[in-house]
Amino acid sequence: MQGFSTATVYEGPLSEVPPDGLRKIWLWAVLIAVGGFLFGFDTGVISGALLYIKTDFGLNSFEQSSVVSVLVLGAMAGAMGSGRIADRIGRRKILGLEGLVFLVGTVIAVLSTGYAMLVLGRLVLGLAVGGASATVPVYLSEISPKEIRGRTLTLNQLLITIGILVAYLTNLAFSGAGDWRAMIGVGAVPAAVIVVASLWVLPESAAWLAARGERDEARRLVASVTNEATADRLLDRYDRNRARQDDDRTGWRSLLAADVRPALVVGLALAAVQQFGGINTIIYYAPTIIEETGLTASNSIVYSIAIGVINLVMTLVAIRVIDRAGRRPLLLFSLGAMTVMMALLGLSFVAGWSSGLSLVFMVLYIAGYAVGTGPVFWTLIGEIFPPRARAAGSSASTAVNWLANFVVSLVFLPIAGVLGQGETFWIFAVIAGLGWVFVSRFVPETKERDFTEVDADLRSRFGERAPA
Ligand code: GLC
Repeated sequence: MQGFSTATVYEGPLSEVPPDGLRKIWLWAVLIAVGGFLFGFDTGVISGALLYIKTDFGLNSFEQSSVVSVLVLGAMAGAMGSGRIADRIGRRKILGLEGLVFLVGTVIAVLSTGYAMLVLGRLVLGLAVGGASATVPVYLSEISPKEIRGRTLTLNQLLITIGILVAYLTNLAFSGAGDWRAMIGVGAVPAAVIVVASLWVLPESAAWLAARGERDEARRLVASVTNEATADRLLDRYDRNRARQDDDRTGWRSLLAADVRPALVVGLALAAVQQFGGINTIIYYAPTIIEETGLTASNSIVYSIAIGVINLVMTLVAIRVIDRAGRRPLLLFSLGAMTVMMALLGLSFVAGWSSGLSLVFMVLYIAGYAVGTGPVFWTLIGEIFPPRARAAGSSASTAVNWLANFVVSLVFLPIAGVLGQGETFWIFAVIAGLGWVFVSRFVPETKERDFTEVDADLRSRFGERAPA
């Protein structure tokens, strides 16, 4: 026990972490990223489960969509609330708590006897999913040496995409029996993994300990996986950073500090671009859209699985290159590809091109998204905020991401009904294009940089001078 909880890692250089230390970091990173799996699983599982729930409980269409969207509302609240708690009780305990809430929500949903109880279960699930989605990037960032931080943070998105795919497959597996309770119940397994990991395997973050003044404990943690000199050097850096701060507000109020504002602008803008680029219209409505292209409905579930696989495979590509190429090139390439593919997808609908061609553009759009915009948002929100504002900044960006997700999934079908599907895709193309312009001007490179270097890059992009 002692060995595990003290042998922690930190935002220091890789060369000072011995090989078995590095193996532990990867194990921890995978366990933390199981939080991402829950995110993907629970947003993905409902599409299939709903087909059976609606006949079981006799739900009308408003009730059906509320079962879907109440999770997103819960997630917004969970994301907003989790930052404060993460700062107060630490990264390890908040993640464990989120796993527990997730278990409770799953039990309520699985045992629900009617509509109201099901909505309650989905709301509780949402709190957990949203909380975890804000906690995971912060926690991953704080246990990772900077040379591999891109990869460990990208694990989050990888597990999100795996969660989505496993949800589709679970739906397929239980669809014969029409067993929606089993579909939702599968989520209890990763939730239990998180609870167990946070109790017995995961370490606390040294950065969090240092930020709240538990200097000796933080130092001991770092020294136990590296050496005394490295620990002293790192703790000195934390101290200097604290002394240098223009403002010592913490929590939500830290976001108002002048030196945090540029990071906040970047976090919130990327959150909006990731969602308003239209990704979840494809992830959530792929079968409907594919049907529109003229392909048969029975094939559409198979196509959505194919989309899930491409999403996952291209995220793996992102993991391979993110620490070499950096975050900015991936984002720029990705947004460029999304803009072009969305424009062509729209054109294929408007001009009535063949359904096969539409499918090709859709697949290329997903591939472009998955190699950059999908993972890099979750990577950057763990990297752009200074330690004292990190949990709050991740919370705020994540909450806006869920809000935008909610808005898009709510208005997509109605807007497509009025403007036409192709024309609606053009709106997404324009937003992705504007996202490209924003990234090229304002998003800092974080590759192999610590938080002081990232801060300097942000300030220069926003035209502010760094303090001496
Ligand atoms: C990102 C988005 C999420 C989306 C997923 C698709 O994680 O935040 O909303 O469903 O990518 O891969």
